[in-house]
Amino acid sequence: MIPQTFIQDLLARVDIVDVIERYVPLKRAGANLVACCPFHTEKSPSFTVSPTKQFYHCFGCGAHGTAISFLMEHAGMGFVDAVKELAQAAGMQVPEERLPRARTAEEEGPDLGEMLHRAAQFYRQQLKSAPQAVEYLKGRGLTGEIARVFGIGYAPAGWQNLASVFADYGDKALVTAGLVIQGEEGKRYDRFRDRIMFPIVDTRGRIVGFGGRVLGAGEPKYLNSPETPLFEKGRELYGLFQARKAIRDAGRVLVVEGYMDVVALHQHGIEYAVATLGTATTPVHVHKLMRHADEIVFCFDGDAAGRRAAWRAMENSLAQLADGKQVKFLFLPEGEDPDTFVRSAGRDGLERLIAAAQPLSAFLLNELASRVDRTTPEGRARLLQEAKPLVRQIAAPMLALMLRKSLADLAGLSGQELDREFQIKTTPSAYSAPARPAPPTARSMLRRLIELLLLDPGAAREVDRAALADAAGLPAFDGRELAALSAVAEALAREDSVTSPGELFRGTAHAALVQEIESGLLERQAAGIGPAEARAEFLDGWNNLLEQMRRERLREMTEKLHKHELTPDDKARYMALLKASASLRS
Ligand code: GTP
Ligand code: MN
Repeated sequence: MIPQTFIQDLLARVDIVDVIERYVPLKRAGANLVACCPFHTEKSPSFTVSPTKQFYHCFGCGAHGTAISFLMEHAGMGFVDAVKELAQAAGMQVPEERLPRARTAEEEGPDLGEMLHRAAQFYRQQLKSAPQAVEYLKGRGLTGEIARVFGIGYAPAGWQNLASVFADYGDKALVTAGLVIQGEEGKRYDRFRDRIMFPIVDTRGRIVGFGGRVLGAGEPKYLNSPETPLFEKGRELYGLFQARKAIRDAGRVLVVEGYMDVVALHQHGIEYAVATLGTATTPVHVHKLMRHADEIVFCFDGDAAGRRAAWRAMENSLAQLADGKQVKFLFLPEGEDPDTFVRSAGRDGLERLIAAAQPLSAFLLNELASRVDRTTPEGRARLLQEAKPLVRQIAAPMLALMLRKSLADLAGLSGQELDREFQIKTTPSAYSAPARPAPPTARSMLRRLIELLLLDPGAAREVDRAALADAAGLPAFDGRELAALSAVAEALAREDSVTSPGELFRGTAHAALVQEIESGLLERQAAGIGPAEARAEFLDGWNNLLEQMRRERLREMTEKLHKHELTPDDKARYMALLKASASLRS
């Protein structure tokens, strides 16, 4: 990982105008520069570059980002290459990504990667002399060949088998690597005992952790390595290293839930399968997969839990979508998982299901539509309300447009009516500075506060994050916006110099909202608002927000009081709130 501090320093040194001008001729327009957008076809310029805020924004298609994003989106570079390219031009040295094998014990501490590698060797070798483990794998239909491809091994029963591998069993690094557990009273023992071992490998082929399965029944069924300096569950995908070539050839990746699923699929000729590590699919996962393939097919069980997991995966994909990329959902018949299904239906059977998988847009619309009664205006209103935050996160302009069209049809509105409701701007406007309308007042107070923080990061210290967390359950506030305000304030207060706030949120749940809000800055800028005015407006808005949160809480309490639902704790709180409001008014 390249440290965020380096990225912020880098963005402080390069000028986004120079970077973009190498590809697109820019023309001055007031404080900003404009051009016809390089990301979509247009006749008059709506692509705007802000030299003061160092980002670009297209009012036509919504393309938005930093100098780094521009190189990624326009020149097709990967994140690291984009950073390297900019660093070279700015004469800066990118801090080397830490390669565990390359560092020496004296300089960088223990080599955890090397430890995991030696443990894996030991587990593989142990499998050969463990007939019960071999029987188990054979019983599940695995060949020796496929076990070799995935480096599958066996951790024997017993408490300190790794003492025969590592000369110093007391080495703390074994604990850091997640191989050894430090018990109470200082006793140490092997984490993995009597388990089938699945090494988890990163995209460069280095072992970063293990998943260990009991033979047969037992709890827990799987034991995973803890998170270590080398291993973050939300970033890694099981089998990606082995699947890379097949993914490229097929132009597609299949995402399943289990280690055994990946292995069985591979053995049956579906070599483009990967699995999350027993966690939900994260935006980082999706981002990573998009770099390898144009089509991602999520495969889940057909039961309620599977549909919930699919919904999560869908939500976490929205901000990563790009036109030309496809995300699809496949639900297996009840009672089947990919492992059992491919064994009975074969590769062709599963690939027929894959071919018929539901596109993300259809999944999203069908799920939402099934939750409401579309024969009533109330039901249709609810449909729109639930769809709005989802649709607004979609990063792919064409897809977002298509989806809004379908939604408008479902809800019985015209496309324009829907766009108005969703506050989607369909006409380019920002560059025509002279006759600017005032910033829209429909923006929520929370959004306005985030926007002001982005204008004046120093105000972040005024934010009481506990108060925001406290307001999270109140229906009057949008939970996503509360969380984003809190995250933005936290990030800005933590990093002492932030050139490009947008870059801090790359790949996180807040990325889309922050981008969207950042683009609103262009309008404020056009209205000539500087940091000093921003600070005053922020403080004013923040105090209003605190007061509104108090009022909402009070309203909730009063309702409870009327329904006789007030607990003693609530009562104390109620009194405190009443007092606070009274003192504010006086
Ligand atoms: P088999 O039961 O051997 O077919 O394994 P599976 O890979 O199909 O497992 P399953 O579908 O039950 O679970 C899917 C994934 O969730 C697994 O591959 C693990 O990553 C994770 N998982 C399942 N059970 C546990 C558990 O008990 N603990 C943890 N930490 N993860 C689990
Ligand atoms: Mn299974």
